[in-house]
Amino acid sequence: MSEIKTYPVNDYFSERALLNEDQYKAMYQASIDDPEAFWAEHGKRIDWMKPYSKIKDVSYAHDDVHIKWFYDGTLNPTVSCLDRHLEIKGDQTAIIWEGDDPTQDAKVTYRELYHKVCRLANALKARGIKKGDVVTIYMPMVVEAAVAMLACARIGAIHSVIFGGFSPESIAGRVEDCQSNCIITADEGVRGGKTIPLKNNVDEALSKPGAATVKTVVVYERTKGDIEWTEGRDVWYHEITEAASDDCPAEEMSAEDPLFILYTSGSTGKPKGVMHTCGGYLVYASMTHEYIFDYQEGDIYWCTADVGWITGHSYIVYGPLANGAVTLMFEGVPNYPDVSRCWQVVDKHQVNVFYTAPTAIRALMQAGDEPVKSTSRKSLRLLGTVGEPINPEAWEWYYHVVGEEHCTIVDTWWQTETGGVLITPLPGATPVKPGSATRPFFGVQPAIVDNEGNLLDGVCEGNLVMKDSWPGQMRTVYGDHQRFIETYFSTYKGYYFSGDGARRDEDNYYWITGRVDDVLNVSGHRMGTAEVESALVAHPATSEAAVVGYPHDIKGQGIYAYVTLKKGHEETDELIQELKDFVRSEIGGIAVPDIIQWAPAVPKTRSGKIMRRILRKIACNELENMGDTSTLADPSVVDKLIENRAHQ
Ligand code: PRX
Repeated sequence: MSEIKTYPVNDYFSERALLNEDQYKAMYQASIDDPEAFWAEHGKRIDWMKPYSKIKDVSYAHDDVHIKWFYDGTLNPTVSCLDRHLEIKGDQTAIIWEGDDPTQDAKVTYRELYHKVCRLANALKARGIKKGDVVTIYMPMVVEAAVAMLACARIGAIHSVIFGGFSPESIAGRVEDCQSNCIITADEGVRGGKTIPLKNNVDEALSKPGAATVKTVVVYERTKGDIEWTEGRDVWYHEITEAASDDCPAEEMSAEDPLFILYTSGSTGKPKGVMHTCGGYLVYASMTHEYIFDYQEGDIYWCTADVGWITGHSYIVYGPLANGAVTLMFEGVPNYPDVSRCWQVVDKHQVNVFYTAPTAIRALMQAGDEPVKSTSRKSLRLLGTVGEPINPEAWEWYYHVVGEEHCTIVDTWWQTETGGVLITPLPGATPVKPGSATRPFFGVQPAIVDNEGNLLDGVCEGNLVMKDSWPGQMRTVYGDHQRFIETYFSTYKGYYFSGDGARRDEDNYYWITGRVDDVLNVSGHRMGTAEVESALVAHPATSEAAVVGYPHDIKGQGIYAYVTLKKGHEETDELIQELKDFVRSEIGGIAVPDIIQWAPAVPKTRSGKIMRRILRKIACNELENMGDTSTLADPSVVDKLIENRAHQ
């Protein structure tokens, strides 16, 4: 391995950061030595209706997994995000909205946001939505998406946000799983100059029998595009909110009542509803947001994620708003109208903190330095990355070209399940190494185990687990606690298993090596190979499909599918296109295979298990040393696949 460079804490953060290295170390030690005392103190950072006296009740024991934090306290998360800021910060901007079209933007103050949330909350109540109901949100990146989330939280309804790129089939599956009774959507979304038929997708989803629970569809008017209307079920957002009062009492919630569900892909079966609760989640999201981005009064903060993902939940909406921050919401994409867009937005709004995914950095890097250099970016202080391992080359480009060597970079490792960041540098406390997420956040106890579950010491590589809980941890898979236990607590007994591999170096820094299960990470989005396979085999021409990942310059990982056809179907380019379109309609654009290779058969063991190791090697073009193929039912299958590989 080439020499790894370390970048020390820079002058700017040495002077102003909330914490220096010694303070981090002392605070981290305190959080591990006495978690109860540590979190008793830091739980106070949010507003409680009834203060907690009980801090933590956690068991990772396989036969009794339960996780509770601050569990005799009551609160409403929106009070911390809105009400408590009104007196001093009522007229301060809460959200800067930047439209897809560069001439469109808006600023919403904390007071305006409060009233918008209350109006929608009252309107939902008037439609009979109540505490414990699940409201699906399928929205573009407009302020009203955040309003919708907070309005649900205001009345104790559980929100389930679905990314706007998912198909009607996916919406229907999620609605059915959580028995949602209301959907909040928009007529159309706008991204990169194109419209997305959100309401049409909802209509199609609701025509499926499983989605019959939905009684109300609230439609936000974004484009005035043509849509169908179902009387009695569909209502206009502007009409129901205009009629509603702009004050709504906050529902008193137990710390452990659900706040939201977010569906995410796993290595088996359908996406699962990751459930987060009101108290611990908000404490953790706000605390990580403050320390990792060194958020201080007046900073302008921009996270480029979509609210359809956990990053949008924790680091566009809940964390920043709980901290009274200025958070920027961007409707568009980094390359529209041109590849300078991100930096133009940075200059326009004087952004200090910019948080994005490696896939975006790689795509922008490919477009060269000029589109970056044509902008000022003087306001930038801190650059963040999340979602997938960042290759050192992209890291260095981010550092030297985008940040002009005066911005620090935080590479933040976490997951939908973790609610907030677990492993990350802190800008004033951590010398950084390109490609390493470095050290654990307060209260987080990472460990590395071998495949048998033995703890490894010192410098090592293996599977990344957590020894104990932190307040932002997911509590269950919605409606399926057994699946929660099986997925996260049964592989390595007594630990939370992340599904990632990691290496620890001589400075105790962690380096995430990627998923060790059958989950792909495509452009920073999680996709289960099993999900793509079941979409492919749902096509009438397919008899079998096997999906693996392969390295992709921009996406990080691409999707490589091996497909065996039923008798009577021909292996044509048209059929490849048809299968890709089919996956798009079954799941969404992010699941479409980059490459489909025809396979007369897929290699299996004699007991019928697909040998993915071999398929991965072929997809990655690593054709020497295929490893042991003696357990294959028919070794000649491999030669045929290698022969076909040459044509891809
Ligand atoms: O493999 C890890 C990768 O993204 C996975 C979690 O995906 P998701 O739940 O969609 O959440 C993404 C945003 C938090 C992880 O299991 N991952 C996330 N951040 C990093 C990362 N891999 C390496 N480095 C990171 N900083």
